[in-house]
Amino acid sequence: MNKQDSSKNIDRRDFLKLGLLATTSVLASSVVPSVKAEDKPTNKVVQTPLQKYIAKKYNHLMGGALKGLTDKQLQAHFSLYEGYITKINELESRIKTFDVNNPDTINYRGWHMEQTSMLNGAVLHELYFGNLGNGSKEPKGSLKKMVDRDFGSLQNFIGHLKTVGKIFHGWSVAAYNYRTGKLNVYGLERHNLNVPAMVHPILVLDVYEHAYMIDYGTDRKTYLDAFVTNIDWKPVQERLETALSIPFGERVTV
Ligand SMILES: [Fe+2]
Repeated sequence: MNKQDSSKNIDRRDFLKLGLLATTSVLASSVVPSVKAEDKPTNKVVQTPLQKYIAKKYNHLMGGALKGLTDKQLQAHFSLYEGYITKINELESRIKTFDVNNPDTINYRGWHMEQTSMLNGAVLHELYFGNLGNGSKEPKGSLKKMVDRDFGSLQNFIGHLKTVGKIFHGWSVAAYNYRTGKLNVYGLERHNLNVPAMVHPILVLDVYEHAYMIDYGTDRKTYLDAFVTNIDWKPVQERLETALSIPFGERVTV
């Protein structure tokens, strides 16, 4: 794969998989690249996309699999996530069938405002539930090396994740940055507010009150400790390896 192909591959994979890069797509659309004589269309296979979102099941996290998170708390959280799935399907259907010749765009604008909220609400919850479990209890391999390189220690990395989790309303997200090739921790005030562009989330922490209120009331600090105890580092490693398979650097914003 040459560099140009890699760049196009980044656009496609990131935008479809992460659901976190709406900002980039808007910015990118305002830049019309110059067409060079040597530019040739690729013959990459355009695969049939998923026709709609289908909620994943996380029943394996119940029944005492997680320490400090009860089935009642988890079930309420799963129901909320499933609501996001229902809503994003509904919104995308409405947007797709909108007559763009209709000058009344009030509802259309509202659907778009909700689109990124519902999409990110669904995707971030999948990432959150996905990195919970009683599997691997410590980072290994490239993940450990990157944590040590960019944060000095696992303790400091977790410290940043939890501190961001204390001071933001929505999410604390550790993500691989395709522009720099580093790990960062980002705070999202809402599903679709403060969303970083061109990053790949690897570890996602939900700090909305609905994530812990049933079990901990307003005691977010104890919930954060419980979350760290319940991290399954295996999917975190897998996400990082997916990110590392794509070249980072200046080309990602070509
Ligand atoms: Fe949540």
